[in-house]
Amino acid sequence: MLTHQDNDMLCHVGPGTPGGTLMRRFWHPVCTSAQLPHPDCAPLRVRLLGEDYVAFRDTHGQVGFMEELCMHRGASLALGRVEEGGIRCLYHGWKFNASGAVMETPNHADPKYAARMKAPAFPVREEGGIIWAYVGPRELQPAFSRYAFMDAEPAHRVVLRINVACNYLQLVEGGEDSSHVGVLHTNMARPGWKDNEFSRNPDVVNPAALASNDLEPALKIEETAFGFQYVALRKTDDPRIRNARVVPFIVPYGRIIPAPEFLFTVLEVPEDDTHTSTYIVVHGNAPVTEETIIGLLGLNDQRYYDRKNCAFTASWADSFGQNRELMRESWTGLRGVEVEDATIALSQGPLYDRSREHLVPADQAVVRVRRVLLESVRRAMQNQQPAALGLDLSGVGACDSQLEEGAAWQDLLPSHRRTEAA
Ligand code: FES
Ligand SMILES: [Fe+2]
Repeated sequence: MLTHQDNDMLCHVGPGTPGGTLMRRFWHPVCTSAQLPHPDCAPLRVRLLGEDYVAFRDTHGQVGFMEELCMHRGASLALGRVEEGGIRCLYHGWKFNASGAVMETPNHADPKYAARMKAPAFPVREEGGIIWAYVGPRELQPAFSRYAFMDAEPAHRVVLRINVACNYLQLVEGGEDSSHVGVLHTNMARPGWKDNEFSRNPDVVNPAALASNDLEPALKIEETAFGFQYVALRKTDDPRIRNARVVPFIVPYGRIIPAPEFLFTVLEVPEDDTHTSTYIVVHGNAPVTEETIIGLLGLNDQRYYDRKNCAFTASWADSFGQNRELMRESWTGLRGVEVEDATIALSQGPLYDRSREHLVPADQAVVRVRRVLLESVRRAMQNQQPAALGLDLSGVGACDSQLEEGAAWQDLLPSHRRTEAA
């Protein structure tokens, strides 16, 4: 369990909060490249860490990221015109370029006035099908961290965004919780469960396709420069061999989950204390399509996912679409991995109070997430370097492998130990 105080410290991300201070040290995904599909397309409102921004793609394809409200008198720039190399406010026509230069102020036409002003624009990168921004203190801007998926061929990669109306930490903890995979995702993890038979799910894209029927994995955890890595060890039919699933936790909210032939990089970006944008990037050495992943995640149903707005739409208003009849065959009566994960996180409430829970050894990785984040918050508050900040993360991966007796699980992914603070 966590005290109320520590719970608040981790879950609150607004300006001036300790958790928000940590978050503001990092680059964050702010939308997918597909959400700004072409030059001069419609701008996009973005909520990040409890504050409102606008993202736009200018005439040259360059992306700008600014405070949402116009610096003149506060009209929303998300209503503005995107044209001729900038975004123009509807109200009095002030125009800004992607780097925040004030290009025109028509109701005060003196060019020296515009030249003296600078709009609140932030550094932006576009990498791996995602637009990233840095909104923290200028003097602390870190190097941009690369992930392996950024080097994948576009045809071998799918990028999805799913907005879920709960605190980010609930979604993070679900991702660092190996023991739920064989239970919550029973139908995908253990086909044949109704007949007490185990046969492996043959889907090579499915991260819930477990190689073992063991519901009580033993966890081992090791600190790394990016946060920690942990292994879930499950028994197999051969007593000398165990199945080992290694998953990293990347401060402040990242993980990589192994499917048999693909990796799922998942980033739980806080919009505010009770809303999260989940970015899921699937990549591998073979082609993969958005339709395949949306189907696998259970999002190919309007009841659950509004593709235009990237919103997870199920709620208690329709009991999350849970079908009690279906539960004779389906463990959850829901559909797909992400639908199950998001539904469970939402069922914990908008911001779960961890002072009332009862933890067991299988929750060790969840406990470690909190410990590493609390330590990172303390470091950020003392102006020290938190884990993962500015690191090249392209050597960070995940795996699901057989491990022979006596072998070291850390040797399955030796690049994790080589990912070091610069
Ligand atoms: S409020 Fe934007 S130009 Fe006046
Ligand atoms: Fe899950």
